[in-house]
Amino acid sequence: MKHFLSTVDYSREELQGLLDTASELKSAPVSRALAGRTVALLFLNPSLRTRTSFEVGAFHLGAHAVVLEPGKAAWGIEFENNVVMDADAEEHIREVAGVLSRYCDALAIRAFPLFRDWSVDREDRVIRALAAHATVPVINMETIIHPCQELALMRTIQDHLGRPDNRKFVLTWTWHPRPLNTAVANSALLIASKFGMDITMLIPDEQYRLDPQFMDAAAAQACESGGSLEVTTDIEQAYTGADFVYAKSWGALPLYGRPEEEAKLRAPFRHFMVDGEKMAMTANARFSHCLPLRRNIKATDEVMDADYCVAVDEAENRLHVQKALMLSLMGGQR
Ligand code: CP
Repeated sequence: MKHFLSTVDYSREELQGLLDTASELKSAPVSRALAGRTVALLFLNPSLRTRTSFEVGAFHLGAHAVVLEPGKAAWGIEFENNVVMDADAEEHIREVAGVLSRYCDALAIRAFPLFRDWSVDREDRVIRALAAHATVPVINMETIIHPCQELALMRTIQDHLGRPDNRKFVLTWTWHPRPLNTAVANSALLIASKFGMDITMLIPDEQYRLDPQFMDAAAAQACESGGSLEVTTDIEQAYTGADFVYAKSWGALPLYGRPEEEAKLRAPFRHFMVDGEKMAMTANARFSHCLPLRRNIKATDEVMDADYCVAVDEAENRLHVQKALMLSLMGGQR
């Protein structure tokens, strides 16, 4: 039984197989390939795209998606072992995983980090606990990485650029009122490096480097795929000659759990917002973002409304790639 916790666990060929299936499903969206199957979607955090695309995708394939919100309309869950459960959680992940595995053919979870202690959050304990105790495949709907978004991003890159090898991919940090999850930034590095792109990560300060577990994995994958990975604080150097610009805001890990201090570090860097002037330095690059996006904070109206903005294409591709994933993990026959 294989889970989908991280694309690091999959070869480029396996991921390309999912991307190819996604394209086929875009042309022929409705079937009975997963008739009678069920997937449980556990949301510990809000969502628009992930929830909708999984629910609609399961419906297209004849399956049923059960949405659960632990701590709201479902019992709160304890994920740590050997604890006296005298706080809010009513049941333990061991029973939750066991029970849902009896009902469903796959389990998916969204569990953002808690933004208190990165040394704890970087271990991704919640999804690992679910995967350890489930007896059906587990899908990552965003934790400290966002592998479903990775598939949608790479589907979008291939749709617009063709072969991604050695095309210049710029991951640019942008300002935001709050320090956000590093998940999508980590994932952008993982998928672009897996597919041989020449990555430039643009950050305003060295403290915005990502966790070494992802920087190192991306560097190793780039080495294997014939791509490259560089980090710069120079806006002009980053944008010049870019083929694809991907924006994301994230918090500085050395100040994790200290949002007031992080806000002071971040304050001088509002000018990292993606605008028409920066995009004019590129090689007619496409621009994308995982969404949601605050306009005129992360990217200007001009950028979001331009023909080169493919963020909605990427969001659409969430639907197609996740259907390919469910078919693969839930044993569907097409
Ligand atoms: N990109 C993404 O995962 O969107 P949602 O948070 O709306 O699911």
